[in-house]
Amino acid sequence: MGRRRISSIAALLALVAACGCGKRGTQTSKETGENVKPADVDAARIVNADRDPGDWLTYGRTYSEQRFSPLKQINDGNVGQLKLAWYSDLDTHRGQEATPIVVDGVMYFSTAWSKVIAMNAATGKRLWEYDPKVPPEWAINLCCDVVNRGVAMWKGKVFVGTLDGRLVALDSATGKPVWETLTIDPKYRYSITGAPRVVKGMVIIGNGGAELNVRGYVSAYDAETGKLVWRFYTVPGDPAKPFENPILKMAAKTWTGEWWKVGGGGTVWDSIVYDPDLDQLYIGVGNGDSWNPKFRSPHGGDNLFISSIVALKPETGKFVWYYQETPRDQWDYDSDQSILLTTLKIGGQERKVILHAPKNGIFYVIDRVTGKPISAKPFTAINWATGVDMKAGRPIFTSFARYPASNAKPVTPGPLGAHSWQPMSYSPRTGLVYIPVIEAGFLYRGLKDFEPKKLAFNTGINMVAAEMPQNPAIKQAILNSVHGELLAWDPVNQKPAWKIERPRPWNGGVLSTAGNLVFEGTAAGNFEAYRADNGTKLWSFNAQTGVMAGPVTYMANGEQYVAVLAGWGGVFPLATGAVAIKGGEVRNISRMLVFKMGGTASLPPVPKAEPPVLNPPPMTASKATVSKGQQLYQTYCSTCHGDAVVSGGVLPDLRYSSALANDEWFNVVLRGLLEPHGMVSFSKALSHDDAAAIRAYVIFRAHQTIEQEKASAKK
Ligand code: HEC
Repeated sequence: MGRRRISSIAALLALVAACGCGKRGTQTSKETGENVKPADVDAARIVNADRDPGDWLTYGRTYSEQRFSPLKQINDGNVGQLKLAWYSDLDTHRGQEATPIVVDGVMYFSTAWSKVIAMNAATGKRLWEYDPKVPPEWAINLCCDVVNRGVAMWKGKVFVGTLDGRLVALDSATGKPVWETLTIDPKYRYSITGAPRVVKGMVIIGNGGAELNVRGYVSAYDAETGKLVWRFYTVPGDPAKPFENPILKMAAKTWTGEWWKVGGGGTVWDSIVYDPDLDQLYIGVGNGDSWNPKFRSPHGGDNLFISSIVALKPETGKFVWYYQETPRDQWDYDSDQSILLTTLKIGGQERKVILHAPKNGIFYVIDRVTGKPISAKPFTAINWATGVDMKAGRPIFTSFARYPASNAKPVTPGPLGAHSWQPMSYSPRTGLVYIPVIEAGFLYRGLKDFEPKKLAFNTGINMVAAEMPQNPAIKQAILNSVHGELLAWDPVNQKPAWKIERPRPWNGGVLSTAGNLVFEGTAAGNFEAYRADNGTKLWSFNAQTGVMAGPVTYMANGEQYVAVLAGWGGVFPLATGAVAIKGGEVRNISRMLVFKMGGTASLPPVPKAEPPVLNPPPMTASKATVSKGQQLYQTYCSTCHGDAVVSGGVLPDLRYSSALANDEWFNVVLRGLLEPHGMVSFSKALSHDDAAAIRAYVIFRAHQTIEQEKASAKK
């Protein structure tokens, strides 16, 4: 798919017709003859989830979100016999990031484009499907692929947030919509990719968009009616208007300039966790908008509550405490990553804690009562800070990481983070946290001047300076430095217990079990099991595609199952170019994979793909045009088609596009020919000359690639 060539307009139109995009919000009931009971999930059942270990009732299984299962029918002694029980192919060939929910033998999960599917958890038989019919052109408002991370359940309903900002309640027995509410102002480029959580009869949901000039918030809706109960803004708005919440008056003192004009950011796009012990809600707050603080808060300031964990009261959304992990963040260091709750014995005392490993690469143990960090240590190589000053509770910044700067060395971690949305897991049995770690730096150089642009990825940094250098030695050194890890971390002593090196970053979410097992999917296309206590590899399955999502385990008819949603995508293969195909291109084959002891299913062989051929038209444009095209490409196109025009295998690699040779280029880029597939018309942002300049740069890159391939063949 990545290097698919389109040979004619007719072929393009055939593709468009294949999309089948019609009116919004349809639901398909399968004539299964199976009676689906309404899923009976309520507060008592989720709070006591450990009495229901055979179910997976909420995103992280229990409210503590540890992703630890007490099940042990499958264990370190017999996992070698784990086989595929069933699989189910999906119709969305984009990134799959969802954690399935399993209630009373029925599995509910979301897929790309915010679709929802219900299946018999033992057999994979489809019970119903729901498609919210997200307008495909909304895809331009997604930084990181058209993904969805999961659904939530409550008293016979299934809740899903859609890419275009709707929250939809479905009847869990039929998949029919019960209510739907718009959670955003569609004038702004918001999106929902995160899983809702249900607390005390309210559905809690945030949104994303902090490179697209939005202001972050989290909202609570009545689960029965869809009515807004409360909303908490994570960054202050225009101080000339009344503050929505008294704490925002304090927060506004940490901002300077006219931040509300660029949005401010601070989106709550992933973690929302309820603590029944203390009756508190914790939200992970994202990066500032723009990344470059010069353009959002030019005269300094910590910019609360970006890159923080904030505690709120669930009934009212009233502020309780905050802890800012990256004050005045300028590296896209979200704090949205998995928030896990547990109790640890520290210095002889039982402490109620949050375990957090955000993008900034530091592992925090935070007191849930006070919001103060108990300990904080880097869990990977970082160079933006040397550690955390525990008295002040603030990172000790290095001058090296600040920008604008002319340093030629990447800052680590980069914007992918040391750990992104792929959920981590904590096993109370081993006392270890299992983290899918990313090691990838990034060259941040601030722009001198900057105006947020329509339809662009607006970071305020120089995306051309950050482009992969084409010098073979430098390029190889960068590729060598990028990799991943499955890290088992001891949170009490703040040190590694064991780790598995992964040649590629962007591996999957983690599940740990009482069977002394840890399960993780990989970027290389496997699904694997390790011993939880010492990291010995015990089992591996060839999944034929990259696996990113968080696995789950459950019981059906007395047997234990392990399930994971497979399907390569997300920001890494879309945006990072050559880094994403380090070690070979990964294909997207989107399917649910379900395993049990002695399962007898097998996957069909992967269809062979013709190797693509580079056949660009001749280079005729001037150097100045190519350089203008490069600037525009990196600003408008690279987040989907890849840095320096190298696709990560999910969306088309433009160097191979036959549209380069003729007017089809303008039909696609300016006239919206492929809009039904999520490739919008850029006519609101780009002129004909601009589109021609981008084409000149892509043609230049295609010829450069041919030269590079010739040179390396000679060696
Ligand atoms: C939000 C993601 C996104 C962005 C940003 C984006 N594209 Fe696309 N583009 C797509 C998708 C998705 C497709 C594939 C549509 C399909 O499956 O037919 C595509 C297809 C194309 C194609 C057809 C390629 C082929 O031969 O199959 C061209 C040409 C193209 N894009 C050019 C551009 C240019 C130029 C820019 C920047 C101005 C850009 N795109 C920005 C998502 C994007």
